[in-house]
Amino acid sequence: MKYPRILTGLLLGAAASLAHAQATWPTKPITLVVPFAAGGPTDVVARTIGASMTKSLGQTVVVENKLGAGGTVATAYAAKAAPDGYTFFIHHNGMATAPALYRKLSFDPMKDFEFVSQAVEVPMTLLARKDFPAGNLQEMVAYIKANKDKINLANAGLGAVSQLCGMMFQRAIGVQVTEVPFQGTAPAMNALLGGQVDVLCDQTTQTVPQIKAGSVKLYGVTTRNRVKVLPTAPTLAEQGLKDFEVVVWHGIYAPKGTPKPIVDKMNAAVRAALKDPDVIKRMDDLGAEIVPDAGNTPDALRVWLKAEIDKWGPVIKAGGKFAD
Ligand code: MLT
Repeated sequence: MKYPRILTGLLLGAAASLAHAQATWPTKPITLVVPFAAGGPTDVVARTIGASMTKSLGQTVVVENKLGAGGTVATAYAAKAAPDGYTFFIHHNGMATAPALYRKLSFDPMKDFEFVSQAVEVPMTLLARKDFPAGNLQEMVAYIKANKDKINLANAGLGAVSQLCGMMFQRAIGVQVTEVPFQGTAPAMNALLGGQVDVLCDQTTQTVPQIKAGSVKLYGVTTRNRVKVLPTAPTLAEQGLKDFEVVVWHGIYAPKGTPKPIVDKMNAAVRAALKDPDVIKRMDDLGAEIVPDAGNTPDALRVWLKAEIDKWGPVIKAGGKFAD
């Protein structure tokens, strides 16, 4: 009889310390894993929101860039991290496209994560190096068609939105060029600025400053409507690439099993960050739109991710580009 009593005592003790850990969370720095290179679009969103949450949570939100395989290295890492409320993960459409792009994945986006919140939506821009010999989209397409063996299209690997956008662009114009993968669009942008690659489709959260500085050539935006921050830039669809639309959305996740009270507190912290005037201004300056509050519940993110998996699966399968 002695042992069951000890066991009950141990269980009660463990339950009490778990409840205490949840009630006092966070008591140490929180890691926010980013699946692409520092300085790039995902990193910019993570660091902007992270800085605001650092103020509201009273603990530092540390951004950790885990690179490789179009974001899938970081996703696998985040899926296996301890579900103790000290590791979170930010990712974009890549969370929805990876299952169609990769034959083998060690994670299931729907089953291996808790859903925290959506965050922002970001337009993409079709760019070329500064000295690219084309003044508008029509000339760009003609030049690419005439020189397809020489054109290098940069992206951040299979699973990156730059890759998705580049794939859709090539399909829309009926030409296949050489794709050059980087570990994020920050290094891809450096290569574009240095003239080592010719074309890049990337998010405004990285491209607006380069476009405004005249360091790259802009051929259009990937949204249905023009974007406020680049008012003179036509959409790709209005220039003849019928129905061309890619909008990048970012969501925040936790490893499966992270206690609900912590997920809920993190959700509240993300929502508060999205109302922080500094965050609003920075996102506005970079062309990103904050997702309205109703879209930022854990459940809304879960439903959204499932819909995106269903939407992009057939598009990717038609593109015929897969990896093991
Ligand atoms: C990045 O943060 O580097 C980009 O989001 C990568 C991508 O194109 O998906």
